[in-house]
Amino acid sequence: MTDSKFIMAPSILAADFTILGKQIKAVEKAGAPYLHIDVCDGVFVPSISFGMPVIESIRPASGLFFDVHLMITQPEKYVEEFARCGADGITFHLEATEDPNAVIDLIHKCGKRAGISIKPGTDIEEVLPYLKSVELVLVMSVEPGFGGQKFMDGAYDRIKRLREYIDANHLNVIVEVDGGIDKKNAKKVIQSGANAIVSGSAVFDKGSIIRNVRKFIKIAEAIEAKKADQK
Ligand code: DX5
Ligand code: ZN
Repeated sequence: MTDSKFIMAPSILAADFTILGKQIKAVEKAGAPYLHIDVCDGVFVPSISFGMPVIESIRPASGLFFDVHLMITQPEKYVEEFARCGADGITFHLEATEDPNAVIDLIHKCGKRAGISIKPGTDIEEVLPYLKSVELVLVMSVEPGFGGQKFMDGAYDRIKRLREYIDANHLNVIVEVDGGIDKKNAKKVIQSGANAIVSGSAVFDKGSIIRNVRKFIKIAEAIEAKKADQK
């Protein structure tokens, strides 16, 4: 594995928007490197979340890596605008465009990290040809569009397949997993081969954001330490 450093990516879809700035600061203080930003258009997915104005307004308030997850149709139309308003990484859905390579090129042309995502029902083999061109692959472990859903167990084998392919081909691609991840299943998600975890409700819904984020980081660190011991 070339890029193994664990990345925690709290999703602001579950945040309290009346105190969004404060909650983002808590994420930062807890040591998460990414802020996951879910953009839903009501077409590619049934829900509508938020878009450029929100990203633009929080950009000056945070040094976190803005990990923008576009659940929108025809992402090629909007990549430049998301890049301009503050995204650091832009992830689009394979299912949302006719020309994934053109979207990847456009993201790179904007100087941003490119990610490609697949819904739970898409054959994992379909994404493999793009892995040599992206920096991140995002495996959805729920149907995209809503927070607070139950993790789909079928995701474990999909993560394993990606990890196996990435390692066998010596690719430097982050494997990020998104949807229904909590402190109970995070260990298995990481052990299956994920090195980035998105979590909305398990970070923002109950208890302290700082403690919740740190718990995820601790789980990843314990797995890393065990691996190091076995070497
Ligand atoms: C779902 C979004 C997720 C969501 C995760 O479509 O892509 O990022 O916010 O939320 P939880 O962790 O609550 O499943
Ligand atoms: Zn997401």
